[in-house]
Amino acid sequence: MSAVESPEPAPNGFKRRRNSTVLNPRSYVTAELWKQAPILKGTTKFEPLRDAKNILVTGGAGFIACWFVRHLSFTYPDHYNVISFDKLDYCATLNNTRILDGRPNFTFEQGDITSPSDVKRCLRKHDIDTIFHFAAQSHVDLSFGNSYQFTNTNVYGTHVLLERAREHGVTRFIHISTDEVYGDVPKGHADLAETSILAPTNPYSASKAAAEMMVSAYRNSFKLPLITVRSNNVYGPHQFPEKIIPKFIMLLQRKSQLLLHGDGSPTRRYVYAGDIVDALDTIFHKGTIGQIYNIASKDEISNMDICHRLLDIFGLAHDTLEESRRWVLHTEDRPFNDQRYATDGSKLAALGWEPKTTFDDGLKLTVDWYQLLTSFPVVEGTEIWTKEEHEDLPSSDEEVGGEHDGTMWTKRALDHLEEVGRTL
Ligand SMILES: NC(=O)c1ccc[n+]([C@@H]2O[C@H](COP(=O)([O-])OP(=O)(O)OC[C@H]3O[C@@H](n4cnc5c(N)ncnc54)[C@H](O)[C@@H]3O)[C@@H](O)[C@H]2O)c1
Repeated sequence: MSAVESPEPAPNGFKRRRNSTVLNPRSYVTAELWKQAPILKGTTKFEPLRDAKNILVTGGAGFIACWFVRHLSFTYPDHYNVISFDKLDYCATLNNTRILDGRPNFTFEQGDITSPSDVKRCLRKHDIDTIFHFAAQSHVDLSFGNSYQFTNTNVYGTHVLLERAREHGVTRFIHISTDEVYGDVPKGHADLAETSILAPTNPYSASKAAAEMMVSAYRNSFKLPLITVRSNNVYGPHQFPEKIIPKFIMLLQRKSQLLLHGDGSPTRRYVYAGDIVDALDTIFHKGTIGQIYNIASKDEISNMDICHRLLDIFGLAHDTLEESRRWVLHTEDRPFNDQRYATDGSKLAALGWEPKTTFDDGLKLTVDWYQLLTSFPVVEGTEIWTKEEHEDLPSSDEEVGGEHDGTMWTKRALDHLEEVGRTL
Protein backbone atom coordinates (compact mmCIF):
# COMPACT_ATOMS: atom_id res chain seq x y z
CA MET A 1 0.00 0.00 0.00
CA SER A 2 1.38 3.41 -0.82
CA ALA A 3 1.91 6.04 1.85
CA VAL A 4 -1.18 8.04 0.96
CA GLU A 5 -3.79 5.37 0.40
CA SER A 6 -6.48 4.69 2.97
CA PRO A 7 -6.61 1.32 4.68
CA GLU A 8 -9.10 -1.35 3.58
CA PRO A 9 -12.25 -1.55 5.74
CA ALA A 10 -12.07 -4.45 8.20
CA PRO A 11 -14.78 -7.19 8.11
CA ASN A 12 -16.42 -5.93 11.34
CA GLY A 13 -17.19 -2.63 9.67
CA PHE A 14 -14.48 -0.75 11.54
CA LYS A 15 -11.42 0.41 9.73
CA ARG A 16 -8.61 -2.08 10.14
CA ARG A 17 -6.21 -1.31 12.97
CA ARG A 18 -2.78 -0.98 11.60
CA ASN A 19 0.55 0.47 12.46
CA SER A 20 -0.97 3.70 11.48
CA THR A 21 1.85 5.85 10.35
CA VAL A 22 0.12 5.76 6.96
CA LEU A 23 -1.55 9.14 6.65
CA ASN A 24 -2.41 11.56 3.95
CA PRO A 25 -0.09 14.51 4.44
CA ARG A 26 -2.29 16.83 2.38
CA SER A 27 -5.44 16.45 4.38
CA TYR A 28 -5.11 16.08 8.08
CA VAL A 29 -5.56 19.66 9.06
CA THR A 30 -7.15 22.69 7.42
CA ALA A 31 -4.78 25.05 5.70
CA GLU A 32 -6.37 28.18 7.18
CA LEU A 33 -5.02 27.43 10.64
CA TRP A 34 -1.50 27.25 9.28
CA LYS A 35 -1.68 30.64 7.64
CA GLN A 36 -2.15 32.11 11.12
CA ALA A 37 0.60 30.00 12.67
CA PRO A 38 3.61 31.72 14.21
CA ILE A 39 6.57 31.80 11.82
CA LEU A 40 9.20 29.64 13.42
CA LYS A 41 12.74 29.90 12.10
CA GLY A 42 16.29 30.48 13.31
CA THR A 43 17.97 33.70 14.41
CA THR A 44 21.25 33.88 12.45
CA LYS A 45 21.91 36.01 9.37
CA PHE A 46 25.16 36.01 7.39
CA GLU A 47 26.58 37.79 4.39
CA PRO A 48 24.99 35.80 1.52
CA LEU A 49 27.30 33.57 -0.49
CA ARG A 50 28.09 34.77 -4.00
CA ASP A 51 28.17 31.26 -5.45
CA ALA A 52 24.81 30.16 -4.01
CA LYS A 53 21.43 31.19 -5.40
CA ASN A 54 19.12 28.24 -6.04
CA ILE A 55 18.96 25.89 -3.07
CA LEU A 56 17.35 22.46 -3.19
CA VAL A 57 16.19 21.19 0.21
CA THR A 58 15.23 17.51 0.15
CA GLY A 59 12.62 16.45 2.69
CA GLY A 60 11.52 20.11 2.89
CA ALA A 61 8.00 19.23 4.11
CA GLY A 62 9.38 17.22 7.05
CA PHE A 63 10.30 18.41 10.52
CA ILE A 64 13.85 19.82 10.56
CA ALA A 65 13.98 20.78 6.89
CA CYS A 66 10.75 22.84 7.12
CA TRP A 67 12.38 24.99 9.79
CA PHE A 68 15.41 25.46 7.56
CA VAL A 69 13.32 26.24 4.47
CA ARG A 70 11.37 28.91 6.38
CA HIS A 71 14.61 30.35 7.75
CA LEU A 72 16.27 30.64 4.32
CA SER A 73 13.18 32.05 2.65
CA PHE A 74 12.46 34.71 5.30
CA THR A 75 16.05 35.61 6.20
CA TYR A 76 17.50 35.86 2.69
CA PRO A 77 14.53 36.97 0.53
CA ASP A 78 16.65 38.79 -2.05
CA HIS A 79 19.45 36.28 -2.29
CA TYR A 80 18.34 32.68 -2.15
CA ASN A 81 15.57 30.80 -3.95
CA VAL A 82 14.48 27.79 -1.95
CA ILE A 83 13.10 24.70 -3.64
CA SER A 84 11.55 22.20 -1.23
CA PHE A 85 11.67 18.71 -2.78
CA ASP A 86 9.63 16.08 -0.97
CA LYS A 87 7.83 12.85 -1.71
CA LEU A 88 5.21 13.74 0.94
CA ASP A 89 5.63 10.57 2.93
CA TYR A 90 3.42 9.83 5.96
CA CYS A 91 5.36 12.18 8.26
CA ALA A 92 5.40 15.17 5.91
CA THR A 93 2.79 17.86 5.58
CA LEU A 94 2.58 20.81 3.23
CA ASN A 95 1.18 22.71 6.21
CA ASN A 96 4.76 22.86 7.48
CA THR A 97 5.59 25.37 4.75
CA ARG A 98 2.06 26.74 4.15
CA ILE A 99 3.20 30.12 5.47
CA LEU A 100 5.58 30.38 2.48
CA ASP A 101 2.96 29.82 -0.22
CA GLY A 102 3.06 32.71 -2.69
CA ARG A 103 6.50 33.97 -1.66
CA PRO A 104 8.57 34.57 -4.78
CA ASN A 105 11.65 32.79 -3.42
CA PHE A 106 9.87 29.57 -2.41
CA THR A 107 8.77 26.63 -4.58
CA PHE A 108 7.53 23.17 -3.67
CA GLU A 109 8.28 20.21 -5.96
CA GLN A 110 6.83 16.80 -5.23
CA GLY A 111 9.41 14.15 -6.08
CA ASP A 112 11.25 11.11 -4.85
CA ILE A 113 14.99 11.06 -4.19
CA THR A 114 15.10 7.41 -5.25
CA SER A 115 13.94 8.42 -8.73
CA PRO A 116 16.91 9.59 -10.86
CA SER A 117 14.51 11.24 -13.33
CA ASP A 118 12.65 13.22 -10.60
CA VAL A 119 15.94 14.50 -9.25
CA LYS A 120 17.42 15.33 -12.65
CA ARG A 121 14.29 17.21 -13.71
CA CYS A 122 14.31 19.31 -10.55
CA LEU A 123 18.02 20.12 -10.65
CA ARG A 124 17.71 21.32 -14.25
CA LYS A 125 14.39 23.12 -13.93
CA HIS A 126 15.60 25.26 -11.03
CA ASP A 127 19.26 25.51 -12.04
CA ILE A 128 20.24 24.24 -8.61
CA ASP A 129 23.70 25.15 -7.26
CA THR A 130 23.31 24.04 -3.62
CA ILE A 131 21.77 20.94 -2.06
CA PHE A 132 20.74 20.42 1.57
CA HIS A 133 19.89 16.76 1.85
CA PHE A 134 17.50 15.99 4.74
CA ALA A 135 15.08 13.49 3.14
CA ALA A 136 15.16 10.16 4.94
CA GLN A 137 13.22 7.49 6.70
CA SER A 138 13.98 8.81 10.16
CA HIS A 139 12.14 6.73 12.76
CA VAL A 140 14.34 4.13 14.50
CA ASP A 141 11.37 2.09 15.77
CA LEU A 142 10.02 1.57 12.24
CA SER A 143 13.47 0.53 11.00
CA PHE A 144 13.28 -2.65 13.08
CA GLY A 145 10.22 -3.73 11.09
CA ASN A 146 10.68 -2.30 7.63
CA SER A 147 14.39 -1.98 7.14
CA TYR A 148 14.48 -2.34 3.32
CA GLN A 149 12.69 0.97 3.05
CA PHE A 150 15.40 2.57 5.17
CA THR A 151 18.17 1.23 2.95
CA ASN A 152 16.24 2.24 -0.15
CA THR A 153 15.57 5.84 0.90
CA ASN A 154 18.58 6.60 3.03
CA VAL A 155 21.30 4.81 1.09
CA TYR A 156 20.05 4.44 -2.48
CA GLY A 157 18.23 7.79 -2.37
CA THR A 158 21.41 9.52 -1.21
CA HIS A 159 23.35 7.74 -3.96
CA VAL A 160 20.91 9.00 -6.60
CA LEU A 161 21.23 12.55 -5.33
CA LEU A 162 25.03 12.38 -5.28
CA GLU A 163 25.19 10.98 -8.80
CA ARG A 164 22.73 13.52 -10.19
CA ALA A 165 24.58 16.31 -8.36
CA ARG A 166 27.85 15.14 -9.90
CA GLU A 167 26.40 15.13 -13.42
CA HIS A 168 24.65 18.47 -12.96
CA GLY A 169 27.45 20.21 -11.04
CA VAL A 170 26.84 21.98 -7.72
CA THR A 171 28.90 24.35 -5.59
CA ARG A 172 27.82 22.82 -2.24
CA PHE A 173 26.12 19.62 -1.11
CA ILE A 174 25.35 19.51 2.59
CA HIS A 175 24.44 16.03 3.78
CA ILE A 176 22.44 15.74 7.02
CA SER A 177 23.42 12.77 9.16
CA THR A 178 22.99 11.82 12.80
CA ASP A 179 24.96 11.22 16.01
CA GLU A 180 23.51 7.68 15.93
CA VAL A 181 26.13 6.68 13.32
CA TYR A 182 28.72 6.59 16.14
CA GLY A 183 26.70 4.02 18.11
CA ASP A 184 26.44 3.75 21.87
CA VAL A 185 28.82 5.82 24.04
CA PRO A 186 29.03 4.30 27.54
CA LYS A 187 28.65 6.61 30.52
CA GLY A 188 31.95 8.14 31.56
CA HIS A 189 33.47 7.93 28.05
CA ALA A 190 34.70 11.11 26.39
CA ASP A 191 32.42 12.88 23.90
CA LEU A 192 33.16 11.72 20.34
CA ALA A 193 34.83 14.00 17.81
CA GLU A 194 34.11 13.88 14.07
CA THR A 195 37.11 11.60 13.49
CA SER A 196 35.69 8.78 15.63
CA ILE A 197 34.82 5.51 13.94
CA LEU A 198 31.24 4.82 12.91
CA ALA A 199 29.64 1.90 14.77
CA PRO A 200 25.88 1.98 14.13
CA THR A 201 23.69 -0.52 15.99
CA ASN A 202 20.22 -0.39 14.40
CA PRO A 203 18.94 -0.50 10.80
CA TYR A 204 18.22 3.26 10.79
CA SER A 205 21.67 4.31 12.00
CA ALA A 206 23.32 1.69 9.77
CA SER A 207 21.53 3.14 6.74
CA LYS A 208 22.66 6.65 7.71
CA ALA A 209 26.26 5.44 8.17
CA ALA A 210 26.10 3.62 4.82
CA ALA A 211 24.87 6.86 3.19
CA GLU A 212 27.88 8.61 4.69
CA MET A 213 30.18 6.06 3.05
CA MET A 214 28.67 6.96 -0.31
CA VAL A 215 29.14 10.66 0.50
CA SER A 216 32.78 9.97 1.34
CA ALA A 217 33.24 8.10 -1.96
CA TYR A 218 31.83 11.01 -4.00
CA ARG A 219 33.99 13.45 -2.04
CA ASN A 220 37.11 11.49 -2.90
CA SER A 221 36.37 10.03 -6.33
CA PHE A 222 34.62 12.99 -7.92
CA LYS A 223 35.67 15.92 -5.71
CA LEU A 224 32.00 16.72 -5.12
CA PRO A 225 31.95 19.73 -2.74
CA LEU A 226 30.42 17.95 0.25
CA ILE A 227 29.92 18.82 3.89
CA THR A 228 28.50 16.25 6.34
CA VAL A 229 26.57 17.25 9.46
CA ARG A 230 25.88 14.89 12.37
CA SER A 231 23.27 16.19 14.79
CA ASN A 232 22.03 15.12 18.19
CA ASN A 233 18.29 14.53 18.61
CA VAL A 234 16.22 17.49 17.48
CA TYR A 235 12.88 18.52 19.01
CA GLY A 236 10.42 21.38 18.72
CA PRO A 237 7.21 22.44 16.97
CA HIS A 238 6.35 20.80 13.61
CA GLN A 239 7.73 17.36 14.55
CA PHE A 240 5.55 14.41 13.57
CA PRO A 241 4.20 12.79 16.75
CA GLU A 242 5.87 9.42 16.29
CA LYS A 243 8.93 10.75 18.14
CA ILE A 244 8.94 10.76 21.92
CA ILE A 245 8.46 14.46 22.74
CA PRO A 246 5.52 15.39 20.48
CA LYS A 247 3.96 11.98 21.02
CA PHE A 248 4.00 12.36 24.80
CA ILE A 249 2.74 15.94 24.58
CA MET A 250 -0.23 14.84 22.49
CA LEU A 251 -0.97 11.96 24.84
CA LEU A 252 -0.94 14.25 27.89
CA GLN A 253 -3.22 16.71 26.10
CA ARG A 254 -5.78 13.90 25.98
CA LYS A 255 -4.96 12.85 29.55
CA SER A 256 -3.70 9.48 28.26
CA GLN A 257 -0.93 7.38 29.74
CA LEU A 258 2.63 7.59 28.43
CA LEU A 259 4.03 4.30 27.17
CA LEU A 260 7.74 4.20 27.88
CA HIS A 261 10.11 1.73 26.19
CA GLY A 262 11.74 -0.52 28.80
CA ASP A 263 12.78 1.18 32.03
CA GLY A 264 13.13 4.64 30.46
CA SER A 265 16.79 5.03 31.43
CA PRO A 266 18.41 5.60 27.97
CA THR A 267 19.46 9.20 27.47
CA ARG A 268 19.71 11.38 24.37
CA ARG A 269 21.13 14.85 23.85
CA TYR A 270 18.58 17.32 22.54
CA VAL A 271 18.93 20.35 20.26
CA TYR A 272 15.99 22.72 19.81
CA ALA A 273 14.88 23.03 16.17
CA GLY A 274 15.60 26.78 16.07
CA ASP A 275 19.16 26.07 17.22
CA ILE A 276 19.86 23.41 14.60
CA VAL A 277 18.70 25.87 11.95
CA ASP A 278 21.26 28.39 13.20
CA ALA A 279 23.91 25.66 13.19
CA LEU A 280 23.10 24.72 9.58
CA ASP A 281 23.06 28.39 8.53
CA THR A 282 26.48 28.81 10.19
CA ILE A 283 27.90 25.72 8.47
CA PHE A 284 26.49 26.86 5.13
CA HIS A 285 28.06 30.32 5.33
CA LYS A 286 31.22 29.65 7.34
CA GLY A 287 31.92 25.91 7.12
CA THR A 288 34.70 24.41 5.03
CA ILE A 289 33.91 22.13 2.11
CA GLY A 290 35.13 18.57 2.70
CA GLN A 291 34.58 18.76 6.47
CA ILE A 292 32.29 16.93 8.90
CA TYR A 293 30.61 18.86 11.74
CA ASN A 294 28.88 17.53 14.85
CA ILE A 295 25.91 19.60 16.05
CA ALA A 296 26.10 18.89 19.75
CA SER A 297 24.15 19.94 22.80
CA LYS A 298 24.89 19.47 26.48
CA ASP A 299 21.26 18.72 27.38
CA GLU A 300 21.39 14.98 28.04
CA ILE A 301 17.96 13.79 29.15
CA SER A 302 16.62 10.30 29.89
CA ASN A 303 13.27 9.18 28.51
CA MET A 304 11.93 8.93 32.05
CA ASP A 305 13.09 12.47 32.72
CA ILE A 306 11.17 13.66 29.65
CA CYS A 307 8.02 12.13 31.17
CA HIS A 308 8.60 13.92 34.47
CA ARG A 309 9.33 17.29 32.89
CA LEU A 310 6.22 17.05 30.72
CA LEU A 311 4.07 16.01 33.67
CA ASP A 312 5.40 19.11 35.49
CA ILE A 313 4.50 21.37 32.58
CA PHE A 314 1.00 19.86 32.36
CA GLY A 315 0.61 20.29 36.14
CA LEU A 316 0.01 16.55 36.64
CA ALA A 317 1.18 15.19 39.99
CA HIS A 318 3.77 12.42 39.80
CA ASP A 319 5.65 12.66 43.11
CA THR A 320 4.35 9.48 44.69
CA LEU A 321 4.58 6.05 43.11
CA GLU A 322 0.84 5.90 42.80
CA GLU A 323 0.66 9.29 41.04
CA SER A 324 3.51 8.37 38.71
CA ARG A 325 1.86 5.07 37.78
CA ARG A 326 -1.30 6.93 36.81
CA TRP A 327 0.66 8.48 33.92
CA VAL A 328 3.63 6.28 33.01
CA LEU A 329 3.31 2.71 31.78
CA HIS A 330 6.31 0.66 30.68
CA THR A 331 6.20 -1.31 27.42
CA GLU A 332 8.52 -3.79 25.78
CA ASP A 333 11.87 -2.25 24.80
CA ARG A 334 13.24 -2.00 21.27
CA PRO A 335 15.10 -5.14 20.10
CA PHE A 336 18.23 -3.12 20.86
CA ASN A 337 18.46 0.34 22.34
CA ASP A 338 21.65 2.37 22.62
CA GLN A 339 21.98 3.68 26.18
CA ARG A 340 23.37 7.05 25.14
CA TYR A 341 25.05 9.08 22.40
CA ALA A 342 27.64 11.74 23.17
CA THR A 343 29.33 13.95 20.61
CA ASP A 344 31.83 16.79 20.88
CA GLY A 345 30.75 20.07 19.29
CA SER A 346 33.96 22.10 19.55
CA LYS A 347 34.61 22.17 15.80
CA LEU A 348 31.30 23.91 15.16
CA ALA A 349 31.71 26.09 18.26
CA ALA A 350 34.90 27.43 16.61
CA LEU A 351 32.67 28.76 13.79
CA GLY A 352 30.68 30.70 16.39
CA TRP A 353 27.62 28.49 16.98
CA GLU A 354 26.26 27.47 20.32
CA PRO A 355 22.76 26.37 21.35
CA LYS A 356 20.67 29.26 22.70
CA THR A 357 17.55 27.46 23.90
CA THR A 358 17.70 25.50 27.16
CA PHE A 359 15.86 22.20 27.20
CA ASP A 360 13.27 23.46 29.68
CA ASP A 361 12.54 26.57 27.61
CA GLY A 362 12.40 24.59 24.37
CA LEU A 363 10.08 22.03 25.91
CA LYS A 364 7.67 24.73 27.12
CA LEU A 365 7.67 26.37 23.67
CA THR A 366 6.95 22.99 22.13
CA VAL A 367 4.09 22.18 24.50
CA ASP A 368 2.55 25.62 23.87
CA TRP A 369 2.72 25.14 20.11
CA TYR A 370 1.05 21.73 20.19
CA GLN A 371 -1.72 23.23 22.36
CA LEU A 372 -2.28 26.03 19.88
CA LEU A 373 -2.20 24.03 16.68
CA THR A 374 -4.00 20.75 16.37
CA SER A 375 -1.27 20.14 13.92
CA PHE A 376 -1.22 16.43 13.57
CA PRO A 377 -3.49 13.46 13.90
CA VAL A 378 -4.55 11.63 17.01
CA VAL A 379 -1.91 9.75 19.00
CA GLU A 380 -3.00 6.80 21.09
CA GLY A 381 -0.59 4.42 22.77
CA THR A 382 1.95 3.51 20.12
CA GLU A 383 -0.30 4.36 17.20
CA ILE A 384 -1.15 7.44 15.18
CA TRP A 385 -4.45 8.01 13.39
CA THR A 386 -6.20 10.61 11.31
CA LYS A 387 -9.09 12.13 13.25
CA GLU A 388 -11.68 10.36 11.09
CA GLU A 389 -9.96 6.98 11.43
CA HIS A 390 -9.72 7.42 15.16
CA GLU A 391 -13.43 8.14 15.51
CA ASP A 392 -14.16 4.83 13.69
CA LEU A 393 -12.07 2.75 16.07
CA PRO A 394 -13.34 0.49 18.83
CA SER A 395 -11.91 1.41 22.23
CA SER A 396 -8.38 0.18 22.65
CA ASP A 397 -6.92 0.79 26.07
CA GLU A 398 -3.56 -0.95 26.64
CA GLU A 399 -4.01 -4.01 28.78
CA VAL A 400 -2.30 -3.53 32.10
CA GLY A 401 -0.03 -6.46 32.91
CA GLY A 402 1.70 -6.28 36.24
CA GLU A 403 3.97 -4.49 38.57
CA HIS A 404 7.70 -4.52 39.26
CA ASP A 405 9.36 -2.26 41.84
CA GLY A 406 6.18 -0.24 41.86
CA THR A 407 6.31 0.25 38.08
CA MET A 408 3.45 -0.86 35.84
CA TRP A 409 4.32 -2.83 32.69
CA THR A 410 1.97 -3.62 29.81
CA LYS A 411 0.81 -7.20 29.44
CA ARG A 412 2.39 -7.44 26.00
CA ALA A 413 5.76 -6.35 27.42
CA LEU A 414 5.59 -8.90 30.23
CA ASP A 415 4.59 -11.69 27.83
CA HIS A 416 7.47 -10.77 25.57
CA LEU A 417 9.98 -10.75 28.42
CA GLU A 418 8.76 -14.18 29.49
CA GLU A 419 9.07 -15.48 25.92
CA VAL A 420 12.70 -14.40 25.67
CA GLY A 421 13.46 -15.79 29.12
CA ARG A 422 14.04 -12.44 30.82
CA THR A 423 12.70 -11.46 34.21
CA LEU A 424 12.38 -8.01 35.67
N1 LIG B 1 14.85 14.28 14.10
C1 LIG B 1 16.02 14.10 14.67
O1 LIG B 1 16.13 14.08 15.90
C2 LIG B 1 17.27 13.96 13.84
C3 LIG B 1 18.52 13.98 14.47
C4 LIG B 1 19.67 13.88 13.70
C5 LIG B 1 19.57 13.77 12.32
N2 LIG B 1 18.35 13.74 11.72
C6 LIG B 1 18.31 13.63 10.25
O2 LIG B 1 17.71 14.82 9.77
C7 LIG B 1 16.95 14.54 8.59
C8 LIG B 1 15.53 15.03 8.77
O3 LIG B 1 14.94 14.37 9.89
P1 LIG B 1 13.47 14.74 10.38
O4 LIG B 1 13.36 14.28 11.78
O5 LIG B 1 13.16 16.13 10.04
O6 LIG B 1 12.65 13.74 9.47
P2 LIG B 1 11.14 13.69 9.06
O7 LIG B 1 10.83 12.24 9.08
O8 LIG B 1 10.29 14.65 9.80
O9 LIG B 1 11.19 14.19 7.54
C9 LIG B 1 11.72 13.44 6.50
C10 LIG B 1 11.19 14.02 5.20
O10 LIG B 1 11.77 13.31 4.11
C11 LIG B 1 10.74 13.07 3.15
N3 LIG B 1 11.09 11.89 2.38
C12 LIG B 1 11.19 10.61 2.84
N4 LIG B 1 11.52 9.80 1.81
C13 LIG B 1 11.65 10.58 0.72
C14 LIG B 1 11.98 10.32 -0.63
N5 LIG B 1 12.23 9.07 -1.06
N6 LIG B 1 12.04 11.35 -1.51
C15 LIG B 1 11.76 12.60 -1.08
N7 LIG B 1 11.43 12.90 0.19
C16 LIG B 1 11.38 11.91 1.07
C17 LIG B 1 9.49 12.86 3.98
O11 LIG B 1 8.32 13.02 3.19
C18 LIG B 1 9.66 13.90 5.06
O12 LIG B 1 9.14 15.14 4.67
C19 LIG B 1 17.07 13.04 8.36
O13 LIG B 1 18.09 12.82 7.42
C20 LIG B 1 17.46 12.48 9.72
O14 LIG B 1 18.22 11.30 9.58
C21 LIG B 1 17.19 13.83 12.44
